[in-house]
Amino acid sequence: DAKYNVNDQGHLTIGGMDAIQLANQFKTPLVVYDVAQIRNQIHHFQKVFQDNDVKYAISYASKAFACLGMYQVVNQEHCHIDIVSGGEMYAALKAGFPASKMSFHGNNKSKAELEMAIDHHVGLIMIDNFHEIDLLNQVLKNKDAKVDVMLRLTPGVSAHTHEYDQTGQRDSKFGFDLKSGQADQALQKVMASGRMNLRGIHAHIGSQIFEVKGFEMAAQKLVEVAKNWRDKYDYVPDIINVGGGFGIKYNENDDPIRPEDFVEAIIKTMKDSVKDDGLPMPEIWIEPGRSIIGPAGYNLYTIGSTKRVPGIKTYVAVDGGMGDNIRPALYQAKYEAVLANDPNAKPVEDVRIAGKYCESGDILIQNQPMPKYHLGDVLVMFATGAYGYAMASNYNLNARPAVVFVENGKAKVVIRRESYEDMIHLDNNYIN
Ligand code: LLP
Repeated sequence: DAKYNVNDQGHLTIGGMDAIQLANQFKTPLVVYDVAQIRNQIHHFQKVFQDNDVKYAISYASKAFACLGMYQVVNQEHCHIDIVSGGEMYAALKAGFPASKMSFHGNNKSKAELEMAIDHHVGLIMIDNFHEIDLLNQVLKNKDAKVDVMLRLTPGVSAHTHEYDQTGQRDSKFGFDLKSGQADQALQKVMASGRMNLRGIHAHIGSQIFEVKGFEMAAQKLVEVAKNWRDKYDYVPDIINVGGGFGIKYNENDDPIRPEDFVEAIIKTMKDSVKDDGLPMPEIWIEPGRSIIGPAGYNLYTIGSTKRVPGIKTYVAVDGGMGDNIRPALYQAKYEAVLANDPNAKPVEDVRIAGKYCESGDILIQNQPMPKYHLGDVLVMFATGAYGYAMASNYNLNARPAVVFVENGKAKVVIRRESYEDMIHLDNNYIN
């Protein structure tokens, strides 16, 4: 039973295209995105909302992977986007993405970033802390402007995930604490501003989450806040934004439900909760990053050398590593890979896939069942699309890979490979 899609030559195909040919044409290391897969996942999210007849927005968390081409694809698919820096705002604007559909997140937005957002009429500022309320007020006063905002709350829901990713707990650098009454104070300050129009409330409970329970708890909590605020302050949010974090399959041991099934559960909980409290049904917004872009990404590497430590381990080294995917080193993330020339070949030994960086921790896959291979073979790692290239670095002055979008039998470079010249572009000589 063949598990992977292959063509007549037995080569792995990505979006219908031969992975070996892609590697030959664009060289390795290479990041390939199957654009149809990106669009499909967005369509699945849209369908759940439409089938349940609720108003919604899908706000792609562009930190997961941002480039002009990606902003253009999500715009074509009628998504909103989350941005978390002036840089993401700049790139999205350059891509022609409408500012009105941007939500600006961050726990330390600078004055310059807030000014830029107001100047370009960014749709929503996601207010994170008291300092930001004052700073934004000042910026709005100076520009005699108004803006729509949401309040980011920390609902105290801890989701099952790797600890680096837990942002919804009370002990978090993000958002207003609910329990201590800070969220209520924030509401009053925003309402008193006269320049901020509060559209709703937001919570993000974590990332790579596998259980629906945390989202249901967060949704209930947010509706409870809405009810309290209606009773106490006569304020009712139009929008409840439950953040992102829907987990994806990276390897054989991962068995998440489908991203859209998380959303189905959230919608149901929200409907039940508002009914109990006699509240109008809000617009439901989600902010998926990983679940939209992760599974659509493939990293292609060439095997360059091997080392056998007798009786202990075989290392198979590829031409990329922690510079293009830091996640195994940083989070002990577990990926899987196949040989592009015969992805369904039977494994004959377990090997360790090593990167080329000068660091012992630069291991891409700790334990990879490997068929017979040769130096020069192309290795394809799956589900690398989220927080891979996005977190890439020039460590060891290795150039960052090219990024290619494939769709309808065509491949297009959306980010060209970095050159040596690119990497010293910002440098000045010190001694002339
Ligand atoms: N919304 C907010 C406010 C967020 O902070 C995040 C992610 C998202 C949405 C999107 O979450 P997603 O659907 O992608 O899980 N570098 C880490 C992930 C950091 C996530 C940060 N916030 C990793 O590689 O696992």
